[in-house]
Amino acid sequence: MRARCVLLFFFPQLATASQDAQAYVLDHLFQLIGTTNKEYVEFGYNTNLLCGGSGANTCRLHQQGWRGLLLDGGHQNTSINLHREMISSANIVHLFRKYGVSTDVDYVSMDMDSCDLWVLESLLSSKYSPRVITAEFNTNIPWPHAITFPDKAKFDVHYKTDRVHYGLNGEDKPAYHGCYVGASAGAFDIVARDHGYEIVAVVFPLDLVLVRLDVMQGVRSSVENSTELYPYLFRNPQNQRKLRRTVQLNTWGNRAMTIEQARELVDYRVWRETILTGSATMSEAVSAGREAALKQVAGFANGKINCFAKLRGRLKQGVRAL
Ligand SMILES: *[C@@H]1O[C@H](CO)[C@@H](O)[C@H](O)[C@H]1NC(C)=O
Ligand SMILES: *[C@@H]1O[C@H](CO)[C@@H](O)[C@H](O)[C@H]1NC(C)=O
Repeated sequence: MRARCVLLFFFPQLATASQDAQAYVLDHLFQLIGTTNKEYVEFGYNTNLLCGGSGANTCRLHQQGWRGLLLDGGHQNTSINLHREMISSANIVHLFRKYGVSTDVDYVSMDMDSCDLWVLESLLSSKYSPRVITAEFNTNIPWPHAITFPDKAKFDVHYKTDRVHYGLNGEDKPAYHGCYVGASAGAFDIVARDHGYEIVAVVFPLDLVLVRLDVMQGVRSSVENSTELYPYLFRNPQNQRKLRRTVQLNTWGNRAMTIEQARELVDYRVWRETILTGSATMSEAVSAGREAALKQVAGFANGKINCFAKLRGRLKQGVRAL
């Protein structure tokens, strides 16, 4: 089976409000930092149309004269430069090269709800350095926990995903849901720092806005003092408090995570530190990362977050069954 890394994850109820907010944040941010090539790449694009589905950012930017590349695992429309490609950490750099993306593309939007963190890590380890990146994150996992979906391209995983179906433009599309999606803000923060980025804004409940450090230089005070951006700034204490809680995305009732799913999550911080020792094998690092993640996830089972709620019981049962 091909790596199902391109995911079509769409929150119908939340989409409009948060996309309006994201559009607002991007508009004000680009006013302050300026644009260079007005080029975008968006992946995880859930429609054949330029201005349909949840691709609202790209639609708006396109109307403002921007141009760029759209990638998705399920949709294609070459007239809008939308190409059907399965995206993984192993091929993202190749895809950017194949479609002639500029190394300093102004804006990259990621929305796959699966191996996003690993794809970002691969991309930023290459010559590509987008000026602004928005990445959907898993708000169920509180800051600073660095928990992520596993990377099928890097190590052996057996996705035990729940699938739900949502209707969009009459289509019936599967999507992951619950807590077994994407990566936490804490995990994105590590990748951002490793590669010369910072999380500048957060648009609850979906997106983090990362900006390259050299782009921030010289405009930092205008960004940080912007009254328009302040409600969304990562450094805003209100957002910091919110990030420390788990914010439940209740779109599909967040069915409780299974023990198999919990066992496949990875603590990115532990995985990375283990790899960086230079003496551990990939599978040792993955084991260390998984063990650390499982302990934390079990601790989130406070009864309030549906998708973690039954986990503690399930873990106990799992241990008894061994
Ligand atoms: C491709 O996109 C254009 C612009 O949104 C739209 O008019 C056209 O119908 C799309 N083609 C297909 C095959 O969906
Ligand atoms: C703007 O924000 C910075 C922090 O980034 C602060 O040090 C500075 O005093 C502020 N400047 C103005 C003019 O408000």
